Amino acid sequence: MNLKLKIWRQKDANDKGSMVDYEIQNVSEHMSFLEMLDVLNEELIEKGIEPVAFDHDCREGICGMCSLYINGEAHGPDRRVTTCQLHMRKFKDGDTIYIEPFRANAFPVVKDLVVDRSAFDRIQHAGGYISVNTSGNTQDANAIPIPKDNADMAFDAATCIGCGACVASCKNSSAMLYVSAKVSQFALLPQGQVEAKDRVLNMVNKMDEEGFGNCTNTGACEVQCPKGISLDNISRMNREFLSANITKG
Ligand code: SF4
Ligand code: FES
Repeated sequence: MNLKLKIWRQKDANDKGSMVDYEIQNVSEHMSFLEMLDVLNEELIEKGIEPVAFDHDCREGICGMCSLYINGEAHGPDRRVTTCQLHMRKFKDGDTIYIEPFRANAFPVVKDLVVDRSAFDRIQHAGGYISVNTSGNTQDANAIPIPKDNADMAFDAATCIGCGACVASCKNSSAMLYVSAKVSQFALLPQGQVEAKDRVLNMVNKMDEEGFGNCTNTGACEVQCPKGISLDNISRMNREFLSANITKG
């Protein structure tokens, strides 16, 4: 395949940035999207041009590092896949592909396609953990019965990889899907009950403080989430938040 690429280039956080045109030849349909960008970067380096900066790590759909808005969609046109698992067979010869960073006030651009998603880390630090009794009396986790439905829902919530596609897809730049997944994975399990009330209050407050918008139930986040995190988690978080506010507030 021969493709035209329109890629967002931005030197640093203070640069205005703009779309720049590139052409790439002989792209195999078996390449991943990031491998295609690797080939482009090798060509740019050979020509003495600064390569395009983009985030990646595992390239297996599990770490949450890759991002990219591809033809107007977070993680591109495929469903339930991350950019690193998106394959070039989803495009056809002669296509023009627009590649931009995830955009949100709370995710400032660092360079080119790399954005700073450390706001997610700070939300996680505000409450995304449990305390475990290590006094010598530790209870065997398998000795605590958990209803199968709850275990399954907690597991589903825990598959959130923290990529930020939900924020980038939301017209309000809301982080509710991400935060609700992190709250739900503990709210559904006995191990998460000790800090449950503080957790939801602290994480929601941090989310607001970091400048993410509110949820208006558009549902774009759920559609674009590569892990299929359900909007049900947002409902659960709202119930947890309300109940924690009544009890603690
Ligand atoms: S909820 Fe989905 S889109 Fe949002 S950070 Fe988690 S995995 Fe990514
Ligand atoms: S690089 Fe790890 S999820 Fe894409």
